[in-house]
Amino acid sequence: DTPNRAELIARMDWATLEATVAQCVACPLWETRTQTVFGVGDRQAAWMFVGEAPGAEEDKRGEPFVGRAGKLLDAMLAAMGLHRGENVFISNVLKSRPPNNRDPLGPEVQQCEPYLKRQIALIQPKVIVALGRFAVQSLLHAHTPLSELRGRPHAYEGIPLIVTYHPAYLLRSPLEKRKTLEDLRLAQRVMA
Ligand code: URA
Repeated sequence: DTPNRAELIARMDWATLEATVAQCVACPLWETRTQTVFGVGDRQAAWMFVGEAPGAEEDKRGEPFVGRAGKLLDAMLAAMGLHRGENVFISNVLKSRPPNNRDPLGPEVQQCEPYLKRQIALIQPKVIVALGRFAVQSLLHAHTPLSELRGRPHAYEGIPLIVTYHPAYLLRSPLEKRKTLEDLRLAQRVMA
């Protein structure tokens, strides 16, 4: 049996995975992206944050969450005594930017999923924080509204997973920031 693409990705080491993502043409987003955004941080991180997809700034710089939503994420991390790169790994469901920041399409998520899966398997974080509905859909295969999923621990491949609002949503609804801080404190408590 020849292994399929997902099986090959599931066996890759970190360097091979990174190189494979950088050259990925598995979905049409390669045609419009500037570069892929693999993720940033500590490969032995206890905390893993998963967002949606690179935006314009991330596409330009090759790093996740460096725009306005990213500044808010950094501030929320700081409130927890956490810092980008130190015991934290930040990634996205999609490694390529959708044009005009439109929502990820089903087939794009499907093609990109093996990369996120492998990142998680190699990092083995003590907790995963899913930021927004696309991270939730990809990791939990749940289509339940986020407000019903937050506030209690879930699991991804045996790793505790906490659901919370996407920082871009919090920029529009700042009153919900309090709930996300509660979610992050819950994440700290349930850490494996
Ligand atoms: N929004 C995301 O979901 N991810 C990023 O990297 C930036 C903004």
